[in-house]
Parts: sequence; C-alpha cells; structure tokens
Amino acid sequence: MRWIQALLLGSALLLESVTALKYEVSGTRKGVPIPKDQIKFVPYQFGRSKNNGPGVVPPAQKKKRANPISSSANWCGAVNHTPTTNKIKSIHSFWQLPGCTKRTGHTYPQAAAVWTGIDGNSWPSALLQSGTVCEFPCADHDRLSGVSADGLYRHEAWWQWVPDSAFTITSMPLAVGDWIEITINTTSDTAATIKFDNVSQDEQITISATAGPTLARKDADWVVERPYYGSSLAGFAKFDTTWFEDAYAVRTTGTNLGILGATQYQIPSLCNSTEYDNANAVSWSL
Ligand SMILES: *[C@@H]1O[C@H](CO)[C@@H](O)[C@H](O)[C@H]1NC(C)=O
Ligand SMILES: *[C@@H]1O[C@H](CO)[C@@H](O)[C@H](O)[C@H]1NC(C)=O
Ligand SMILES: *[C@@H]1O[C@H](CO)[C@@H](O)[C@H](O)[C@H]1NC(C)=O
Repeated sequence: MRWIQALLLGSALLLESVTALKYEVSGTRKGVPIPKDQIKFVPYQFGRSKNNGPGVVPPAQKKKRANPISSSANWCGAVNHTPTTNKIKSIHSFWQLPGCTKRTGHTYPQAAAVWTGIDGNSWPSALLQSGTVCEFPCADHDRLSGVSADGLYRHEAWWQWVPDSAFTITSMPLAVGDWIEITINTTSDTAATIKFDNVSQDEQITISATAGPTLARKDADWVVERPYYGSSLAGFAKFDTTWFEDAYAVRTTGTNLGILGATQYQIPSLCNSTEYDNANAVSWSL
C-alpha cells in the first residue's frame, strides 16, 4: 500500500498548506456555543498536550470473517469502495478512545492513530480524515511536558486533509474509554465539514473546510494506523481493541456503504482487523 506513506500524519511536519485549503470552526459544549477563542488548533506536531490515565479494555464482542483480506505496511482496518457515479457524501463512526501501551522492540516515538476518512486508498492524491492518536515520545519519560515516569503517554484529537498538513485540536478533552464520534460531510470534492464530538462530555466542534485537495469520494476508511512522522515510521504502540461502531458512509443516492464487502487490512504480526456486521468492524494489536 504505497499511498499510505503519503497519507495521514505523513505530512504532519509541514506547517503550511500545500493547497488553497481554508477552514472555519465552531463548537458547542453541553449545547452552549463555545467562544471561538476557546477552540484551539495547532499544526500537528509530535509531542503535545497532556498525559492521560491507563487504558480501559472494552468488552469483548464476537467476530466473524467474510470480507476479503489484504495487508499493509502501516495500518489495519476496513476500507470499502463506491464507484464515482455514486460518490460518498458523508462518513461516520463512533469508537472508544483506546488506551495504549509501549511495544517492546519498537523504537520511539511510538504511536497509534484511530481515524475515519474518505479516499487515500484507490484515490491516492487526497484523503480527508479525522480521529485520535496516542503517542509515547520516548521509552521512559515525556520530554515536552517534563513529566518523568515510565509509561506516560498522551492522546490527541486531530484532522487532516492530505496532502495538506494535520491539525491537533488541542482544546478537545480526551480520556481513555470515552466515546468519540466523527462525522465528515462533503458538499463537493473540495469542501466538507468535519464534526468531532466528545460524546461523553457533550463537547463538539465542527470544522468547515473549503478549497481542499480534490477528492474522488470513492474510498470509505475506518482505520488504526502506525503513522509516519515526517518520513519516518513511528514505532507502533499497542492499543486496546478498537471497535468502529455505526461505521457507515452515505452516498449521493442516499444508499449506505458499510463494512460488509470492505477489504480488511492487517499489518503482519502487528495489527489485525475484522468485520462484525455491516456497521461494525474491529481492529486489534497483535
Ligand atoms: C451530515 O449530514 C447528515 C445528513 O445530511 C446530517 O444529519 C448531519 O447533521 C450532518 N453533520 C454535519 C456535521 O454536518
Ligand atoms: C470527554 O469528556 C469527558 C468528561 O469530562 C472527559 O473525561 C474526556 O476527557 C472526554 N472524552 C472524549 C471522548 O473526548
Ligand atoms: C486475523 O483475524 C482473523 C479473524 O479473527 C483470523 O482468522 C486470522 O487468523 C487473524 N490473523 C492473525 C495474523 O492474527
């Protein structure tokens, strides 16, 4: 999967848009509008924000296997496709923020990103995505916060319209086990709203982006990724089993594109994934 190198956090270290991408944000907290100056974004950069508590393992759910299987160098999850005669209009998913642990034998930084998005697979020239990421800056201490304790790590909320660079939503509270909901609605191949919702806290922000890199809107992605930081592949942190729930895309004709018939990607010996039903898929660390 060559495209993956270009996608995602791969362009994270660029500080400027490579296209004419523009965006505006708004948000609500418990139903009340959040003042704009309290919604904070920064260019995505490895090593920011605070440390959260230990992981919570979600309850086991049963699995079955019928989707075709493929492998990737750096991500696992479900990818489904639709012809450009019936494009993806929106994509949706819930998941619980997974706890992460360090992986023995992998170099630092280590990270695992959970996201949903549109394109980047059969359409490699653009990818619109949003999700969460856990990061271990180094083996035994948190360089940037100055907190020194083995095993400390951080979680971040982010969005990216690849090949433009990624943004961290620093004002979004995150805690392991809380429910996250992502909804990306496109209004054209170059305009979309991304809604990031902390369901547990009833805090939502909506980013309206225009003049983005041109999408084909034919790949629907629900993925856990071993991200690139610049041109280097991060070590792959172990993450708690992550269920993508209510995972569906809605197409122009109004029909849903779900999990069944998607390709289930795995990273050999690091990460596996499987479908459960048409709206649920799961990825887990090996
Ligand atoms: C996305 O579109 C759906 C269906 O039109 C709508 O119900 C939902 O509110 C929209 N969400 C956002 C974040 O715009
Ligand atoms: C959501 O809010 C809860 C309640 O404060 C908080 O514990 C956590 O940081 C947030 N979780 C998510 C999913 O963002
Ligand atoms: C991946 O998961 C599927 C479904 O549970 C299973 O059949 C397969 O053996 C797993 N592969 C690995 C390498 O764990």
